[in-house]
Amino acid sequence: MIKNENLQKELSRLDQKHFIHPTSNMKQLQEDGPAFIFTEGDGIYLKDIEGRILIDSLSSLWNVNIGHGRADVAEVAKEQMMKLAFTSTFSNWSHEPIIRLAEEITKWTPADLNVTFFTSGGSEANDTAFKTVRHYWQVNGRPEKKKIISRKKSYHGVAMGSTSATGIPEFHTFTTSIAPDFHYVDSTIEALEAKIEQEGAETIAAFISEPVQGSGGVNIPEEDYFKQVRALCDKHDILIISDEVICGYGRTGTNFGMENFGIVPDIITMAKGVTSGYAPLGGMIISEKMHEELYEKTDGIFWHGYTYSGHPTAAAVAMKNLDIIKEENLIDNVNKMGAHMLKGFEWIKEQNDNVIDVRGIGLLGGISLERAEGAEAMTPKIVAEALKRGLICRSVVYGGQDTLAFAPPFIINEQQMDDIISIVNDSIQAVSK
Ligand SMILES: Cc1ncc(COP(=O)(O)O)c(C=O)c1O
Repeated sequence: MIKNENLQKELSRLDQKHFIHPTSNMKQLQEDGPAFIFTEGDGIYLKDIEGRILIDSLSSLWNVNIGHGRADVAEVAKEQMMKLAFTSTFSNWSHEPIIRLAEEITKWTPADLNVTFFTSGGSEANDTAFKTVRHYWQVNGRPEKKKIISRKKSYHGVAMGSTSATGIPEFHTFTTSIAPDFHYVDSTIEALEAKIEQEGAETIAAFISEPVQGSGGVNIPEEDYFKQVRALCDKHDILIISDEVICGYGRTGTNFGMENFGIVPDIITMAKGVTSGYAPLGGMIISEKMHEELYEKTDGIFWHGYTYSGHPTAAAVAMKNLDIIKEENLIDNVNKMGAHMLKGFEWIKEQNDNVIDVRGIGLLGGISLERAEGAEAMTPKIVAEALKRGLICRSVVYGGQDTLAFAPPFIINEQQMDDIISIVNDSIQAVSK
């Protein structure tokens, strides 16, 4: 134990001195050091250097969907690395893992969304989509169609374009010179209609939205919202990009999240769940028709590519991850456990007057607490209480809300879900006293 304590102290000190944490409070890290130094993962559990076993109720960053510690995925990564860890796919080079994965993805996507450009993650996927839609309109003789509309409270990543599309103001004020031609709307069809009217449809390239907003607080859209969006965008020749970085590959109980809302987008962007976090990978999926237009109407050059666009090891890992989701019927479990989670949330609401809303779709859920204007949020304290009881969960306080967000691994069972529910309930009550 002493050895571990010394190691923990050493690592904390080095972390503070040499490591910048993504989306973090630098001052707090200097004061307190990292809250966890994780050492192992197994299923829904994470273990840290202090030996604490903690339930990972957000699948880390909504991504470790098949759960931690899968040796079968590690084996595949090892095998691929031994054979061919990396080679480029720039220009006309290729390799089997990426070809197989691109084909596999077509079995998950709707309609003819059958052609994928790969990235290392979701931010790059969205930036790729913004450039591609603008290129598409150029190719079609309408270069003035370049504006991107997104929704308030949306999260699309932190590359220049994806930061600019993100509808959470904190991400804009962090830096200066946000990219031009990005606009945000409230989540009503009237707001989108008004924005199109104001900007002029002839200047708008695409509308981007998560099917269910994740980081913005697990916001499930109104029943017909996306159908109305589809009709409006069709009327004005505006492409729809569905940001499926969280929702894709089963999180909401369907292959892709937009299926729940009855529309087919023009482009899907994805990351996270495609590998369950076992390797960094993302991508943009376009239709066969758009693909054809891009190479037939121009000299065919796609002036866009990342070193890791089509990483063989990441591709092999993704393939194995998707196999596991299918073979173990994990999407069925998402639906079963999702229903159980929601029942639990409703029970929590009955127990606690300050819980004003609970919601869930598949294994994506939120619990919102009452928060008077200007009042301090409760959920950060609830998160601290939950931690004492062995649960890691996430608080969302943007835009005056006070929400707990949940996205447990797809392999969760009923007993484990009950543990989460009971810890959350106890933690809310401990703070509400
Ligand atoms: C909906 C959505 N889009 C995009 C991203 C950005 O992905 P990445 O962090 O892999 O760049 C995220 C990350 O949380 C996300 O939730």
